Amino acid sequence: MKITKICCIGAGYVGGPTMAVIAQKCPEIKVTVVDLNEERIAAWNDENIDNIPIYEPGLDKVVAEARGRNLFFSTDVEKAIDEAQIIFISVNTPTKTYGKGKGMAADLKYIELCARQIARVAKDNKIVVEKSTLPVRTAEAIKSILDNTGNGVQFQILSNPEFLAEGTAVEDLLNPDRILIGGDSTPEGQKAIQALVDVYSNWVDADKILTTNVWSSELSKLTANAFLAQRISSINAMSELCEKTGADVNEVAKAIGMDSRIGSKFLKASVGFGGSCFQKDILNLVYIAKSYGLNEVADYWEQVIIMNDHQKRRFSNNIVQTLYNTVADKKITFLGWAFKKDTNDTRESAAIYVADDLINENAKIAVFDPKVSRKKVLADLDYLETRTPSSNERNVLSFDSPYDACANSHAIAVLTEWDEFIQYDWLKIYDSMQKPAFVFDGRNILNGPALEAIGFIYQGIGS
Ligand code: UDX
Ligand code: ADP
Repeated sequence: MKITKICCIGAGYVGGPTMAVIAQKCPEIKVTVVDLNEERIAAWNDENIDNIPIYEPGLDKVVAEARGRNLFFSTDVEKAIDEAQIIFISVNTPTKTYGKGKGMAADLKYIELCARQIARVAKDNKIVVEKSTLPVRTAEAIKSILDNTGNGVQFQILSNPEFLAEGTAVEDLLNPDRILIGGDSTPEGQKAIQALVDVYSNWVDADKILTTNVWSSELSKLTANAFLAQRISSINAMSELCEKTGADVNEVAKAIGMDSRIGSKFLKASVGFGGSCFQKDILNLVYIAKSYGLNEVADYWEQVIIMNDHQKRRFSNNIVQTLYNTVADKKITFLGWAFKKDTNDTRESAAIYVADDLINENAKIAVFDPKVSRKKVLADLDYLETRTPSSNERNVLSFDSPYDACANSHAIAVLTEWDEFIQYDWLKIYDSMQKPAFVFDGRNILNGPALEAIGFIYQGIGS
């Protein structure tokens, strides 16, 4: 089957960059990305390429090359579904905030809406690809909806989880460690798998394209994220022990990372991991394990989240304690709000929870992030529903300049590892602050001894 038209439902952090790269690498395929969110689609279509809604290094160039040629962004979901041979589902799957599985299970309502819409619109056979991270056996649910509500056409469901990390999305998409495609073992299923393999083969080596059954593919994605998150919680657990014992967590990480069986990646102690995937996927895993009565398995993975929550809370508690047990009416400057550098995504960012704790202690939080707006910061805090939006507004100050954000502040907390923070004129910052001037480096990126030489009281994680 020769694929000439692809559609992707959901123009977010996964759908947008993934489809842009497919379009760039497969100029003969028409790729249409659709979304209900008109503002988002308008931003993807903005003539000024700087205004595309997602910040990812290199993404602007990829979009500029393919947009209007074979890459299109639209709100006409039905037309795109109707035309396409392959439909990717890349809609959001947040953790449920209500009902059974609240706070744990993935909320599949957006997926279900997509499936029903595809069933209604499709007039010829389609390959439907799960791209969003989903609990195991979601494909089965999608299939059941498609087969029972469709117009009698054939659907093949594939699982093709996305492993890109934000901040390096374009690089990860261009040079993936592997592409995973799960599908049915029937001849039709194998044909659908091959059609998708052929798309990726335009730029990915055959030996990096792995095909499995649907459930292995779905579970592999959850497992990969759980393992990565577990490494961070493991090193963060050690960071607390390091602080008590006089060991240095950076040295410990380096020493263990040189063991080729352990490896050096994902061992950076931090204020805690964030992002839309790790917590959600582990909670999902815990929920699935519990639903099969596998309580030990569930408890084992839940501990990764418990440790991460502890690390965030420990960071805010330490700020309060160090500032003489009160931060009331003190200006505390946050350098960084995004969940990691090189992205404007703030979902589950540690900064949100640390700020929430400190506002509970009546601190005034001054935020500077090179890519995050005040509107987003306030929306993140409002989402927690800890206090009224007007109260959040009173307690959060935003600045366009890091120097203004730091002036008169009692303490600086580094929440995101943006490279530019390292280059700042720290002497100028010191001179503008209240004394003693504290720096709490939640990312261990600053030069502690150099800051101490200026006069700062510096605390990193795990030393
Ligand atoms: C993750 C997976 O890496 C990716 O494969 C999957 O597709 C989606 O989830 P992402 O959440 O975008 O990607 O970023 P990642 O680089 O994994 O970082 C997640 C969080 O962990 C960030 O808050 C980051 O700062 C933190 N982190 C990462 C650490 O605290 N220490 C580390 O050593 C690595
Ligand atoms: P991710 O990080 O998984 O890409 P995002 O929240 O960034 O998540 O993007 C998901 C996108 O999916 C959102 O822009 C949302 O508007 C869109 N979306 C959700 N449901 C539908 C739907 N039924 N039809 C079209 N778009 C949808």
